Amino acid sequence: MAHKLTGDEDFAGLKTAEKSLPGRAYYDPAVYARELSNIWHRQWIYLCRSDALAGPGSYRTETIGGQSVLLLRDDEGTLRAFHNTCRHRGSRLCLERQGRLGAQRIVCPYHQWSYDLKGNLLRTSSLSEAPDFEREDYPLYGIAVREWRGCVFVCLSGDPPEELSAFRGGGDHTDNWPLAELAVGHTWRKTVACNWKVFWENFNECLHCPNVHPELSRLVPIYRRRIILPQDDPDWRRHEGSADPKHRGGLTQGAETWSGDGKAHGPRFEGLSESERAAGQRYYVNTPSVYIAAHVDYMRIVRVLPRGPEETEIQAEWLFPEAALSDPAFELANIVEFGTLVLEQDGTASEINQQGLRSIRHEAGVLMPEEHYVADFHRWYRGAMGEG
Ligand code: FES
Ligand SMILES: [Fe+2]
Repeated sequence: MAHKLTGDEDFAGLKTAEKSLPGRAYYDPAVYARELSNIWHRQWIYLCRSDALAGPGSYRTETIGGQSVLLLRDDEGTLRAFHNTCRHRGSRLCLERQGRLGAQRIVCPYHQWSYDLKGNLLRTSSLSEAPDFEREDYPLYGIAVREWRGCVFVCLSGDPPEELSAFRGGGDHTDNWPLAELAVGHTWRKTVACNWKVFWENFNECLHCPNVHPELSRLVPIYRRRIILPQDDPDWRRHEGSADPKHRGGLTQGAETWSGDGKAHGPRFEGLSESERAAGQRYYVNTPSVYIAAHVDYMRIVRVLPRGPEETEIQAEWLFPEAALSDPAFELANIVEFGTLVLEQDGTASEINQQGLRSIRHEAGVLMPEEHYVADFHRWYRGAMGEG
């Protein structure tokens, strides 16, 4: 039976029935266009791991809010990003998702203007150049790049925010994990037919967990109760000090990590506190583009990129110590298949959510007490959109 709420200050749940975002915020192309300029072209966006660009001349391209970005490593080993657009008449420069630039040059495929890896125009292809044409006036359009613990972020704004802007408790709960030293062991990518906010809302609540994630809810018993924190239960004080994971959180008895059989197979990270080892999972959340889940033996980076008002690309990278990846007995599939299953389940739930939002009667939904992280997400969103 549902409780009417009392006045416990440490209860984490919402105390009023807040409205969700308006239905059209999830499909209207005009809202989407405003999101691109207010959020996706303004904030730091996670692109890839730094070691994905192995040496001078290696590059990646990625589309962020409709803008093609060219990320490369220059001759001095510095990461640089540019709009993937030629300064002559605007052709796309690099057509592949990744590769290596021959002769340390970027050559436009259209009329062969060439640029060095710092983006300076080296040559045009014309027989002559007008007297008032100066090559230094036509470098590639630069994009700000920042590296954080082996992760590369880019910002399309000419005036990038100082902070990488993490939200949920104001920051990073994975400080003690050796993120910078880990290597990607597996990557999974899928385009889901939902608005990007639908995926984030789903990430921010567990009301859906028992039905959508039966396997995960067995592993993390508190999720079976549709909550994330012990303090999401209005009766949490009655269970304070309980060792039962359905009240205190953490993994089910005997499990160590998020994997098919609950077992960790590679080395466990040193340097974690007892509560971090017992937590089962910790998160770093940086809206709008990434969250990182930290477990006792591996980390998982989930990147979210909008592909249209009703299309979102989800990418997950699983990161391990090199020692685990080079051990032939290491059971990567035990970990990767479990995480993939959970993401597929979230993808399907998000698609069903998206379909219902199209109702002309649905002006806005309503948030239940357990959805306080969804409310935080909406507050962040309204702030970023200038809707205070
Ligand atoms: S558009 Fe690139 S050289 Fe002409
Ligand atoms: Fe989920």
